[in-house]
This record gives sequence, C-alpha cells and structure tokens, in this order.
Amino acid sequence: MADTIAVLSLKGGTGKTTTVRTLADVLRRVGLDVLAIDLDPQGNLSDYFDVPADAAPTIADVLSGDAKVKAAEHDGIVPASPILAEVERAMSGRMGRELVLKKALRDARRQHDVVLIDCPPALGLLTVNGLVAADWALISSEAQYFALQGVQGALEVIEQAKEYYNAGLEFLGVVMNIADMRTVHSRDAYEQLKEAFAEKVFDSVIRSSIAYAESAERATSILDYRPDLGADYVALADEVLARIGQDAARRRLQPLRAEATS
Ligand SMILES: Nc1ncnc2c1ncn2[C@@H]1O[C@H](COP(=O)(O)OP(=O)(O)O)[C@@H](O)[C@H]1O
Ligand SMILES: [Mg+2]
Repeated sequence: MADTIAVLSLKGGTGKTTTVRTLADVLRRVGLDVLAIDLDPQGNLSDYFDVPADAAPTIADVLSGDAKVKAAEHDGIVPASPILAEVERAMSGRMGRELVLKKALRDARRQHDVVLIDCPPALGLLTVNGLVAADWALISSEAQYFALQGVQGALEVIEQAKEYYNAGLEFLGVVMNIADMRTVHSRDAYEQLKEAFAEKVFDSVIRSSIAYAESAERATSILDYRPDLGADYVALADEVLARIGQDAARRRLQPLRAEATS
C-alpha cells in the first residue's frame, strides 16, 4: 500500500505545491512510483508539471464519481481545474462527503509506492478529504512571525480529521519553507517552531530563492535548474523517508545527497 502524504497549510504561498512537486521529483529519482494529486482548484501543481490545461478527466471528475483515479492520471499526476471549486460545493451536501477521496484512492494506493496530495490553501472540505485519505500530514510553514499560529491552526484540523474520520492519520512534521536564515526574522520563526513542536520540525529548511519562480515558469524541476538549491529538498526527502520507514529508498537517495552537496 502506498504511503499517502497530504501537504497542507492554512494559507496560500507557503510553498505547499512546490514541496509536492519537488518531493515527487526526488522520490521518483530513487525509483519510487509516485502519484501526485492536485486538490487545489487553482491547479498550480498541474501547471508545475506542465499538464495541458484541457487535460481530462481531472480530480473534479473523480470526486463527482464520474471517473476513476486511474483514468484521471496524466503522467503520474491527477490534475485539477477551476471546476473543482464547484464540485467542492456540491459535495458539501452529500452524505459521507469527507470520505470521497479516500474511497476513490483505494485502488490507486495499491498501484503506487507513494501518493502525494497537494491541498488547497484553506481548511475546507477538500483539505479534509485530503487528510482523511492520507496516512501522514505534512505541514508547510512560512518563515514569518505568524508561523506558529499557522501551524497550530493546521494541526487542529489534522486532530479533527483524526478524531472523526481517520484514526490512522499521523502528523509527519512541519517544514519551514521559503526561508532566509540570514535574517533574524526567519531564525526566530524556526526557534519558535522548534520550541512548540520539537522533533516534529524537520532539520531541513527550504531556502528562499527566485530560482523557484524561474524554474516553475520553465516547468523545470529545481533539481535540474539549480541542483545546489534542490539539495534542500533532497535533504527533506531523506528525513521524510526515514519517518515513513522507507529505508531501502532512503539508501538509494544517498548518492543524490552526496552529489547535491558536493
Ligand atoms: N523556496 C522558495 N523560494 C522562493 N520562492 C518559492 C520557494 N518555493 C516556492 N516559491 C514560490 O512561491 C510561490 C508560492 O509557492 P507555492 O509552492 O505555489 O505555494 P502554495 O502552494 O503554498 O501556495 C510560487 O511563486 C513559488 O514559485
Ligand atoms: Mg498551492
């Protein structure tokens, strides 16, 4: 069964989608079969993977019950489109509305090693569906003074998903993203997170760089565009694989780590 990881945060712009995109890249490079799911009506993940805008079916069709996940996979990603916002509204009146994605993913979880879910920047029904379908919740945090509140808010939703719908859900950790550790500001935010969440905070911090926007525009992975920066995500992937117990994949990652830091 695939390890299913939902990536979330209270707000937009915290690097969630870039995290899903780049972790998918790193894990594929060590031979894992990764399915990425775009659960955001904005469809940024689909753009980052260069899925054509008219690709069909999409996750909206899956959640409406009109398509299987397998049919909606386009080169390892199930894309989203703006229609998804309407589908979310329609779902909210249905019985079992929190369990729709979980049910839809049942077969896909047998066919892949890892499923990564990119949640929208709000803690609504789509994010709840992501959390209910997941084994692990990964919080992406901004490197700002309000980081702590943001992470606490996301954790409350994780706890509720766990209590009501998914007892097996585990908090994988929180990664500080888009950080400039040369500033007191970012360092303070990191210390606050460490104080509150201790070992749940990943040691790997994703440094801020304009190269991320450039590589997104070119639909190129940061691992190829700027391997020196991509090293942050290789280090994060190493910690993620350790926490989910994928030790063989973690060993295959070591040459990439050495390469990235050399
Ligand atoms: N490490 C980074 N440094 C600088 N900019 C980044 C970094 N990661 C992502 N970005 C940029 O920040 C913006 C938001 O990132 P994104 O991953 O789409 O966040 P979210 O999914 O949380 O809204 C995008 O323009 C993206 O290119
Ligand atoms: Mg996003």
